Amino acid sequence: MSDTPLLTRRPQWTALEDHRAQGVPGLRELFAADPARAERYVVRVGDLRVDYSKHLVTDETLALLQELAEATDVFGLRDAMFRGEKINTTEGRAVLHTALRAPRDAVIEVDGENVVPKVHAVLDKMADFAERVRSGAWTGHTGQRIRNVVNIGIGGSDLGPAMAYEALRAYTARELTFRFVSNVDGADLHEAVRDLDPAETLFIVASKTFTTIETITNATSARSWLLAGLGGEEKAVAKHFVALSTNAEKVTDFGIDPDNMFEFWDWVGGRYSYDSAIGLSLMIAIGPDRFREMLDGFHRVDEHFRTAPAEANAPLLLGLLGVWYGNFLDAQSHAVLPYSHYLSKFTAYLQQLDMESNGKSVDREGRGVEWQTGPVVWGTPGTNGQHAYYQLIHQGTKLIPADLIGFARPVAELSDDLKAQHDLLMANLFAQGQALAFGKTADEVRAEGVPEEQVPHRTFRGNHPTTTILAAELTPSVLGQLIALYEHKVFVQGAVWNIDSFDQWGVELGKVLAKRVEPALTEGADVPGLDASTAALVAAYRDLKEV
Ligand code: F6P
Repeated sequence: MSDTPLLTRRPQWTALEDHRAQGVPGLRELFAADPARAERYVVRVGDLRVDYSKHLVTDETLALLQELAEATDVFGLRDAMFRGEKINTTEGRAVLHTALRAPRDAVIEVDGENVVPKVHAVLDKMADFAERVRSGAWTGHTGQRIRNVVNIGIGGSDLGPAMAYEALRAYTARELTFRFVSNVDGADLHEAVRDLDPAETLFIVASKTFTTIETITNATSARSWLLAGLGGEEKAVAKHFVALSTNAEKVTDFGIDPDNMFEFWDWVGGRYSYDSAIGLSLMIAIGPDRFREMLDGFHRVDEHFRTAPAEANAPLLLGLLGVWYGNFLDAQSHAVLPYSHYLSKFTAYLQQLDMESNGKSVDREGRGVEWQTGPVVWGTPGTNGQHAYYQLIHQGTKLIPADLIGFARPVAELSDDLKAQHDLLMANLFAQGQALAFGKTADEVRAEGVPEEQVPHRTFRGNHPTTTILAAELTPSVLGQLIALYEHKVFVQGAVWNIDSFDQWGVELGKVLAKRVEPALTEGADVPGLDASTAALVAAYRDLKEV
């Protein structure tokens, strides 16, 4: 039996409950009492300016949250992670995505072996390959240049490179086409390759385990498509398929030359893997130098998280604010709202990072938790959201803390006309933060001459908390900094909640059941023990299929 006290029985927890019971002042009140919080509640991490002044917290709230972090030894677990200890206890693994962006001369040991040289050896091999594809030195089976790169992977083997490719579009080799295929729905691969020439197409099969059914199925179909287009010559595969994996044996079984495999290790979690070989498609897109700038961005925030004192530690603060809302103010979700078209896949990426990490209901000792864990993370680029779901944030009944992310400068390649739109974009970000925080009182509405019966409808309660994250420009380094900020925020929350943020057993059951049900769909086979509802659905599906 563990002697770790249950979180809710800790005095630091009950102190926060008592503090909450005393009532939470509104944001108008908080700013009236202390306008300086606009500057005091700002933390700088790397090139990011993180403003948390529009949160429903006082100095006392923050101090109590920090006491909770101390009591739950967040920094102790952080140090164990950076040291390479096996903090993913249910899988007996170290958690070392931070080693993927460590400088060449760093020493980080797993089971007594320094892993940094291996990391850089793979990065160098990736760089060499990426340069050969970019320059045209790597050709396809017929000697034609590679013009299309298709990454096949799912979850962490897709979302990272797909998100970062969109985010860094302005830095990509525009003469190359990049596509990302993840869904086992054949339509995904069909749409990705239908206008491509196989002779000019490189497939990157990205899978940590190399057993994921969606990826292996798509990769097998991609190989058939390639061979059909190249006259069926098996040896064409070697020039058109590379693999990113920890599993050399399975890669070889699939028919990919191990020389064309880029390795990573079991201490890299899938959702933390895009700095590893999993980033190969991105590296081909932006080039090795830009990729390294991105890794340096990650590393800057790793160092901040590792060394900054609690009161100025951005991931710690953001993590604790989430604990405040989720555990003491009943918030169920968290919106991430980037004011950048390039970050269109950013929130989808964070969904896996956060929800696969902290969607847990037993603690590290296997006891059921009596407290809320990870929030539902959602959102899309801000201005589009404003014309869709912001209504609910402003005037609905739910408390939804949100992150507003924006940049001072648009990307350089925009025309002057399009650059001029940037101030309007950012005006929207600032206006939303303001409206969400301070709302509009009934008296203010009346003062505008609004008829009395409409006043309640036009009143905005305000007090919707936001963090505003600003940077000068969305560069590779800034993207790395942003992602690392969220990675460590998620870490902090998992540490406070005493859950294993690095396993994902919850994904397994569905995978196993899908394998059992498939023969019933394809061959009408009997699936022993199938529940009545699913059996009826299967029967209906088979009827419809035959119409
Ligand atoms: O969704 C579960 C999961 O294991 C993720 O954690 C992982 O990113 C994804 O599947 C893909 O796994 P693999 O890279 O092994 O194909």
